[in-house]
Amino acid sequence: MSVAVYLPDLEKTRWWCRTLAELLPGWSVRPLVEIEDRETVAYAVVWRQRTGDLARFPNLKAIVSVGAGIDHVLADAELPGTVPIIRTVGADLTQRMREYVALHVLRHHRDMPRQLQAQAERDWHQIVVPVAPNRKVGVMGLGNLGAEAARTLAGLGFATRGWSRNAKAIDGVETFAGADGLPAFLDGLEILVNLLPLTAETTGILDGALFAQLAPGACVINCARGAHLVDDDLLAALETGQIKQATLDVFHLEPLPADHPFWTHPAITVTPHIASQIDAATGGRLIAANLQRFEAGEPVPDLADAARGY
Ligand code: NAP
Ligand code: GLV
Repeated sequence: MSVAVYLPDLEKTRWWCRTLAELLPGWSVRPLVEIEDRETVAYAVVWRQRTGDLARFPNLKAIVSVGAGIDHVLADAELPGTVPIIRTVGADLTQRMREYVALHVLRHHRDMPRQLQAQAERDWHQIVVPVAPNRKVGVMGLGNLGAEAARTLAGLGFATRGWSRNAKAIDGVETFAGADGLPAFLDGLEILVNLLPLTAETTGILDGALFAQLAPGACVINCARGAHLVDDDLLAALETGQIKQATLDVFHLEPLPADHPFWTHPAITVTPHIASQIDAATGGRLIAANLQRFEAGEPVPDLADAARGY
């Protein structure tokens, strides 16, 4: 069985090829850019492939996203539309995201940016914040990552809400669904975490109109995709104080350009898309197992729905 691998970095691509080849004895795993016998390739393992990369392989059985999101695969205007897409998720990805969300929600909850500023000024400034049950936090997207993030926040004692497309029940979390449920979900939220997939419906969802429905001085944590956020609306809401602080892990353009105002904004924390990266050892095992299941005709748990966009 032949597998083509594409990541924007060729060294990383070679690493993934070696890892997958060890885990898939008898399979041929090669960098996509070096393959000439294109009709032999049955599987493609990709992160942000270039337009037309996959259309070159006429016999693809499945495409694997090296990550939970499939927006980067679907962004290819020449993508062969009927080929199934397998996401790469798993316990490590969820755990890392829980850690990131807990860290940044707690940081905003305890007003750490202000406390660190006081330290820099040698100012013994005691900030007393409400206890977590009196802090309204909300998670947009209740899938693999969002549901666990919401459970984690509820476990820390926060008054936790969650929002998804279809109705969900999660212990300790007040849930809302669909466009009709969005205003009640947002109403008065003090800390908002975005873990939605990027689709036509969710692009630009973090905009001025949404910020206006949060509590004045709310904090926003975007750890899903940069295109969920309208950058200028965030800057405007920070200017008026409607948003007090933001933590951003993802950006329209990555790496975030050096001259982007987010880098130096005093109320924005920038992290370089590290909220939850798949490490290649674990990711390799997940991808190899999914490819073997798919090839054997067994159910693959992480199949995406391309028509739905996630
Ligand atoms: P998932 O399992 O597919 O879950 C997506 C959730 O979003 C589901 O609950 C879904 O609702 C909800 N949703 C989708 N469209 C919606 C809409 N229009 N309105 C309301 N809810 C909507 O995704 P996941 O594995 O949790 O991953 C989420 C995203 O996180 C990924 O797509 C990726 O962009 C991002 N991510 C970022 C990092 C990072 O390091 N920053 C790492 C991994 C993933 P239903 O449950 O009703 O279908
Ligand atoms: C990372 O952003 C992913 O989609 O897994």
